[in-house]
Amino acid sequence: MSCFDVQSFRQQFAFFTQQPSWVYLDNAATMHKPTAVIDAITLFYQQQNSNVHRGAHSLSQQATTRYEQARADVAQYINAKQAAEIIFCSGATAALNQIAFGLMHTVLQPGDRILLTQLEHHANIVPWQLHCQRHGVIIDVVPLTKDNQLDLDAYNQLLKLKPKVVSFCQISNVLGHIQPVKQMIAQAKLVGAITVIDGAQGIVYEQPDMQQLDCDFYVFSGHKLYGPTGIGVLYGKFDRLTELTPIFAGGEMIDQVSFVNTTFNQLPFRLEAGTPNIAGVIGLSAAINWLQKFNIVEMQKHKLLLLKHFYSGLSAIKGIDLLSSPVHNAGIVAFNIIGEHHSDVADLLNQQHIAVRAGQHCAMPLFSYIQQRGAVRCSFAAYNTLDDVNQCLLALEQAVEILTA
Ligand SMILES: Cc1ncc(COP(=O)(O)O)c(C=O)c1O
Repeated sequence: MSCFDVQSFRQQFAFFTQQPSWVYLDNAATMHKPTAVIDAITLFYQQQNSNVHRGAHSLSQQATTRYEQARADVAQYINAKQAAEIIFCSGATAALNQIAFGLMHTVLQPGDRILLTQLEHHANIVPWQLHCQRHGVIIDVVPLTKDNQLDLDAYNQLLKLKPKVVSFCQISNVLGHIQPVKQMIAQAKLVGAITVIDGAQGIVYEQPDMQQLDCDFYVFSGHKLYGPTGIGVLYGKFDRLTELTPIFAGGEMIDQVSFVNTTFNQLPFRLEAGTPNIAGVIGLSAAINWLQKFNIVEMQKHKLLLLKHFYSGLSAIKGIDLLSSPVHNAGIVAFNIIGEHHSDVADLLNQQHIAVRAGQHCAMPLFSYIQQRGAVRCSFAAYNTLDDVNQCLLALEQAVEILTA
């Protein structure tokens, strides 16, 4: 039994008092922000606004200190070896694009292989694809088992092809299935692969430990960790980051420029071109510092309780086709009402102020693989209650009645 106090946690979010009629089950898309985060951003703009790293005045120096403190906060949260291993960017998509672009120009050679999985978000497919054809690099894909979990035997077989890079999501954004990340990283390292973890959904599931995971890269977005949109993190081991060709140039990433030659600044600045999202960085560190006041393990237990309740409720509704398995699931459930379009279901839920997502969830190859046009997705956060789950189940029962009448 979880001893997590959901009601007092929920009070941290102004959204729920200002919009009490909404049941928000679209957390895998983006999460609500606690007052602590909104206040930190407001305070920065109202009292401290200034650019970083280059000002001659004390406001800029204070903003720089705050910005670099945020970098140290993130490094400490994910147990990176040093703050210079934290690169701020706009989100997981930007980070994955930077890694794919950066490695493609340095490490990868024609004929090399990259191993992805059938579960990936487009952000962990297309950045690789954009370069692979031109550079003669081959993409292999790990298939799924019958219950839509990653096929780990096939993963091991594909590792025998000795991929240079293995890149996969910690948690599927569609199905919620959790990958055995630590084991998969260790196996990939045995064949000498560079490991890239898409932690977009994983970052809120558990506090990741970079030194323990021992991956080369780990990426996430702030807005899926109670932080603001437009800010994310590219973590990389220091030596790996030095191998990345910068995708953007200009600003603080420069050392010297002439029309003949340009040299770059040291890490982390080398990979942070232009004026950064300073307020976003401050908001992200506020989210991380706030979150550490709570017991993340208890929060997760609470989410699993919601998942269990939702899953058994769904299973009892006639005509529901469940795509997610409750096993190794982080609290994301994809399903359909048999014979009905996912958008019609989501529309009916929306009419009752139940926010879910419908479609292919930026994972078209997964939907082709499982031969579905799309799905409705309910994703839970620690601020959701059993009442939220019950309201959603009731609305779904009514949707089935309306659509199949
Ligand atoms: C697994 C996964 N990877 C990558 C992304 C991209 O994140 P962002 O849009 O914040 O860059 C998402 C977003 O939903 C995701 O769920």
